[in-house]
Amino acid sequence: MLICPLCRAPLHDHDQGVACSAGHRFDRARQGYLNLLPVQHKKSRDPGDNQAMVEARRRFLDAGHYAPIRERLAALAVDRAPTRWLDIGCGEGYYSARLAEALPAAEGYALDISREAVKRACRRAPSLTWLVASMARVPLADSALELATSVFSPLDWAETQRLLQPGGALLIVGPARDHLLQLRQRLYAEVREYDDGKHLARVPPGMHLAHSETLEYPLDLDRPEDRADLLAMTPHGWRAGAERRQAVIEQPLQVTVAVRFDLIERDIA
Ligand SMILES: C[S@@+](CC[C@H](N)C(=O)[O-])C[C@H]1O[C@@H](n2cnc3c(N)ncnc32)[C@H](O)[C@@H]1O
Repeated sequence: MLICPLCRAPLHDHDQGVACSAGHRFDRARQGYLNLLPVQHKKSRDPGDNQAMVEARRRFLDAGHYAPIRERLAALAVDRAPTRWLDIGCGEGYYSARLAEALPAAEGYALDISREAVKRACRRAPSLTWLVASMARVPLADSALELATSVFSPLDWAETQRLLQPGGALLIVGPARDHLLQLRQRLYAEVREYDDGKHLARVPPGMHLAHSETLEYPLDLDRPEDRADLLAMTPHGWRAGAERRQAVIEQPLQVTVAVRFDLIERDIA
């Protein structure tokens, strides 16, 4: 199902990596992932999340703070029973690895543009095909997927639609209105209200919303390390002023975790 990111011809195993019939070759890294992000498709030297963000997110997620999100995601994915799926913007693989466990018979792919993220992610589930690649040019064939997931990530709608089979679904997980509200109240003089349904206005013709739900729970962040990691893994870490950030790290915090799950299907005809 893999295609060449340069000429879109099918990719085959070759030496230590993959190659297409036009002779474009891509190596498999020592850690096991494939780098299918050619230099001419990069807008910066190291695109995507950097090492510090990736490591903060990994510590925070491994502490279990978002485990209810992961479990709900896995249950919704199992309901779809896909034979082939892709996690788009997989980060350091916390959710992708759970999907691999929940869908043991399916062929799973996970991609991120950040090499630092994928390098760490692929240790979590060697059975998955891990890719450094852009979500704007996914190196998979048209209609390859029955399920695509996007968790707290940007999304390329047209490209995702191309990848889905008719009847296939995109499962988007993102912040609902009150997500981390108390953190935002501590960080900013004025808290902007999220319009948490605005992505639905971008659902393209040929796709439709099949299901939405919200998951909400209180989360106690008693340890300063957890509060520092939460700041470091979100844009709040650089948007907010230094003094307010420090104050957040110093005082215990209870935050609301509030996320939406939207399932968007590709029309059958
Ligand atoms: C907020 S993180 C979410 C990571 C993971 N899904 C999670 O929730 O733990 C967003 C991710 O999108 C990735 N990303 C940003 N632009 C991308 C692109 N054009 N193609 C692929 N990944 C991209 C970043 O590198 C980052 O890992």
